[in-house]
Amino acid sequence: MRVLLFAGLFSIVAGLHAAGAAPTYSQDVAPIIQRNCQGCHRTGEAAPMPLTSYKEIRPFAAAIKEAVALKKMPPWFADPHYGKFANDRSLPQNDIDTVVAWVKAGAPEGDPTATPRPPRYLDGWNIRQPDLVLQMPAAYSVPATGTIDYQYILIPGRFEKDTWVQMAEVRPDNRAVLHHVIAYIRPPGSKWLPGIKAGIPFVPDEEGAKGHREFLVGYAPGMPPAILAEGRAKLIPAGSDIVFEMHYTTNGKAGTDQSKIGLSFAKGEVKERVMTVDAGNYDFEIPAGAGNFRVDSDFEFGTDAKIVSLMPHMHLRGKDFNFEATYPTGEKQTLLNVPGYSFNWQLVYYPVTDLAMPKGAKIHCIAHFDNSANNRFNPDPTKVVKFGEQSWDEMMIGFFDVAFDKNMDPKKLFPPDPPKEQKADAALPGSKPAL
Ligand code: HEC
Repeated sequence: MRVLLFAGLFSIVAGLHAAGAAPTYSQDVAPIIQRNCQGCHRTGEAAPMPLTSYKEIRPFAAAIKEAVALKKMPPWFADPHYGKFANDRSLPQNDIDTVVAWVKAGAPEGDPTATPRPPRYLDGWNIRQPDLVLQMPAAYSVPATGTIDYQYILIPGRFEKDTWVQMAEVRPDNRAVLHHVIAYIRPPGSKWLPGIKAGIPFVPDEEGAKGHREFLVGYAPGMPPAILAEGRAKLIPAGSDIVFEMHYTTNGKAGTDQSKIGLSFAKGEVKERVMTVDAGNYDFEIPAGAGNFRVDSDFEFGTDAKIVSLMPHMHLRGKDFNFEATYPTGEKQTLLNVPGYSFNWQLVYYPVTDLAMPKGAKIHCIAHFDNSANNRFNPDPTKVVKFGEQSWDEMMIGFFDVAFDKNMDPKKLFPPDPPKEQKADAALPGSKPAL
């Protein structure tokens, strides 16, 4: 009865709108913008302009209508036919209709006292207040022009005991010169980056770039902070160092950068360890001018585990990316399909429910690249393109986070005789350049 009454009221309100009462900013639009836009559109975050008040929003009304109607904003690229994702940012059609109707009606403010109070954001962090903040000890100076090799910066101070990290976030300092940051765990005994000294930017030779490391947290445009469910965490083993991989790009204007990361430790008991692994192809060659070139990659599970997030990664020629699982029964399932990939948005997709992968399950990724002149982002359609670190080279990596019993040796994730690409990947996660 009560439900019916409520539904009745709702249809009256909806009816009022339909009858011509235009939506207002304060009552109808502000909640939508607060919920879906301000995570990025506020001072200090990724978006170019803050959208936190009527005054700030009004001049962008037409652009907002277009961005929302064309589904360019909020950025979300998963094909809705496959999988359900906890961080699905796409706007429900109702909200799109409300915003469009509001702008068409002249974007009225309505009663300012009816505007809901904006959510409170923790100063600078999108994760729980960090227990530890690690910052580059000195700013890096980026020149106005030229190409800069990835710079590796060892953060002073070792981890003296095993540390479980539930949430991690990179705070980029100068987004104008920073393409990406990856904070890696360098476990004790690793042969990665011999000769690196704390705080001094370092570029390894080919051998020194190879040793073992693990992906802790990354930043690239659009990439959310790493937030794991209660009871799950990434492990920083005792004796580990943290090393930042910094990819700077020049833009005609010199600048400096001194980025940092925040780590929130697990509060309760940790049951499962989480690790980032990947199905990547490091050995492809995209012909000059090819408009739809296919590249595949594989991963096989050596033991039971759960996939808790997925992240496709390509560069400027990337067109589409698909993750498919084949179970030992032969049954196949598309885990994520991104039909319109955008290099500008390095999104991570968190399935609503964990994807259980039994031993022997295989992940197969298929990507296509557009190396033709029709791709307006293509740096040079006359070039044959291979795997490489810089944005004008290419990558084809399907990253995913897996959760497994915290006492299990992570080497078990990999079968004794893994698929070719997995083998080329030195049989442990994160041992290839990424992003
Ligand atoms: C994940 C971060 C993020 C979210 C969430 C987000 N934006 Fe954006 N927005 C950006 C960034 C970064 C840009 C600039 C780069 C670009 O245009 O792609 C941008 C650009 C825009 C532009 C400029 C025009 C355009 O289309 O390029 C408009 C308008 C806009 N956003 C509106 C919105 C609205 C409205 C919402 C919520 C419904 C929203 N954004 C949610 C990050 C975000």
